[in-house]
Amino acid sequence: MVCLGNICRSPLAEGILKAKVEAKDLDWDVESAGTSSFHNGDLPDPRSIAVAKAHGIDITDQRSRLFVKEDLDEFDLILAMDSLNYQDILRKASSEIQKRKVKLIMNYEKPGYNQAVPDPYWNSDGFEGVFQMLDRACEKIIDQYQ
Ligand code: 4NP
Repeated sequence: MVCLGNICRSPLAEGILKAKVEAKDLDWDVESAGTSSFHNGDLPDPRSIAVAKAHGIDITDQRSRLFVKEDLDEFDLILAMDSLNYQDILRKASSEIQKRKVKLIMNYEKPGYNQAVPDPYWNSDGFEGVFQMLDRACEKIIDQYQ
């Protein structure tokens, strides 16, 4: 799960998918990272922590880290929140195999729409909506790969 700061959207995506993976007892390794290191080592944004908690998910064990090109080998799927993240990730890819792993997460809900998960960092009202979008996409991801 990859966004810009790895403090708002992708920590929520990580927490939501991990909760679904645990509920289904799947053996998946889920992590998140940011295309910037602005918040390296930081806890998720308090507003992401609060919205996750309201839905019964604890994300306070997470710390922001930079997305690195080794992640493209380590993971089978790299899920970007928006087209900027998507392009930044693709720039680090060095093979067709790596490039094919990179997807826009909302295309799991609405294939081909290339919908972005809006960055809620500057809009405190946006966190619940972001949670709902990511929850719908993660449900489809579970359905598709479980
Ligand atoms: P995120 O949100 O990419 O969803 O974690 C942001 C968090 C921080 C900044 C930008 C986006 N920032 O510029 O510091």
